[in-house]
Amino acid sequence: MNIKEIIDKEPIGQEIEIKGWVRTFRSNRFIALNDGSTVKNLQVVVDFENESEDTLKRITTGACLKIEGVVVESQGNGQTIELNSKMIEILGDSDPEEYPLQPKKHSMEFLREIAHLRPRTQTFGAIFRLRHALQFAVHKYFNDNGFFMVHTPIVTGSDAEGAGEMFRVSMLDPANPPKNEDGSINWKEDFFGKETNLTVSGQLEAELFALGLGKVYTFGPTFRAENSNTTRHLAEFWMIEPEVAFNDLFDNMDLAEDCLKYVIRYVIEQCGDDLNFLHERQLQEEKGLPEDKRSMPLLEKLKFVSENEFVRCSYTEAIDILRNSKPNKKKKFQYIIEEWGADLQSEHERYLVEKHFGKPVILYDYPASIKAFYMRLNEDGKTVRAMDILFPGIGEIVGGSQREERYDILKQKVADFGIEEESLWWYLETRKFGTCVHSGFGLGFERLINFVTGMTNIRDVIPFPRTPKNAEF
Ligand code: 4AD
Ligand code: MG
Repeated sequence: MNIKEIIDKEPIGQEIEIKGWVRTFRSNRFIALNDGSTVKNLQVVVDFENESEDTLKRITTGACLKIEGVVVESQGNGQTIELNSKMIEILGDSDPEEYPLQPKKHSMEFLREIAHLRPRTQTFGAIFRLRHALQFAVHKYFNDNGFFMVHTPIVTGSDAEGAGEMFRVSMLDPANPPKNEDGSINWKEDFFGKETNLTVSGQLEAELFALGLGKVYTFGPTFRAENSNTTRHLAEFWMIEPEVAFNDLFDNMDLAEDCLKYVIRYVIEQCGDDLNFLHERQLQEEKGLPEDKRSMPLLEKLKFVSENEFVRCSYTEAIDILRNSKPNKKKKFQYIIEEWGADLQSEHERYLVEKHFGKPVILYDYPASIKAFYMRLNEDGKTVRAMDILFPGIGEIVGGSQREERYDILKQKVADFGIEEESLWWYLETRKFGTCVHSGFGLGFERLINFVTGMTNIRDVIPFPRTPKNAEF
């Protein structure tokens, strides 16, 4: 039995063996032991007359123990059961002087510097059990709804977003690469016989499969070499990308909204202990703040989002709202909204969600000029069937669209965006054979986890974050 099972089942009177790490050791008598199965600790009452001086000295925060004992009703407050120890074995050396995780509050910044040890803290235990549950809920949602998962490639020869922010994959000698006559690098001699990169999105390949299997999704790592040092950007992140034949933009919105609500409800039902812990943690963190600076308590926020309809608002309406907003008129925004066509910054997205609507918002029909080449052009000739879902405290959590399924228009867009048609010949060709309306979106997995856990920095919800100048662990 692990600690979760022991706490759930309360096997009073039973003799058990348990292994785990010491969180705290008080009065030479009470060990708070954790094995990662739950946010809760098992209280072990040490039979100190039975243990050697040496053993007692080595029971320190961070030490790894094997304990045999009997489960009994707890004499103290704070737990219903505890373990009376009969035998304690110290499993590995542990230097209490040097162990960086003392039982006190550590800053998230400090914990990022010891990312090899942070899985042993209560907070990161809770975050990563939730991360697991969320990925399981995502797979369950799509499986239960008749989707097939496709493993799209990680090494690609095309730029799915057309933004040129890719990490190169090459085996050429950087000091002495083979050259063409004109002095440029001869990529034909490279491993794949062409220029290749780490993918920024599995969408284009998912589209090919949607046009054969109907309803598919990918869930894999994606890579962006953009130099964004923010609390919302990673250079390596995980994205969930469904793609559905015959869905138009509004079906796409319904799918995204339903999926988000499902996975949030799933963790509310399945991960109560971890969510309660993070809820309390947030209340503690924000205790000192004035009331209007505090965020909505975590459990309330999750319930609110899973039970309320998302607002749907066109880009054009949003621009009107923003242009007439107080922070725009008083020049409080860093980027003042003047004209239709402006790209929305995260300050604008957050104003719409947190101040104006007070709910998640689906913005749609964006100007073609600020969105990717593959989005379907509207009849007005200037907007595309794009949608972004904006969440409180997060900003953009989903980006998606109805895809351009008309060959001539897509070919023109590829040219207009300065993309080499050669690299996308296979994508274009699907528009020649049995082309149809289809749509999909990308849900940033870490942004979802940030929302669900109430964390404020995306580096704290991925095991080992990759960001500019940082790939230590
Ligand atoms: O809006 P994006 O760039 O859309 C696409 O990549 C499309 N191909 C998706 C599709 O239609 N299949 O990215 C989608 C989502 C964003 O809304 C955001 O949640 C997340 O991916 N995202 C990032 N998350 C962390 N770090 C980054 N650098 C991210 N860039 C995007
Ligand atoms: Mg986007």
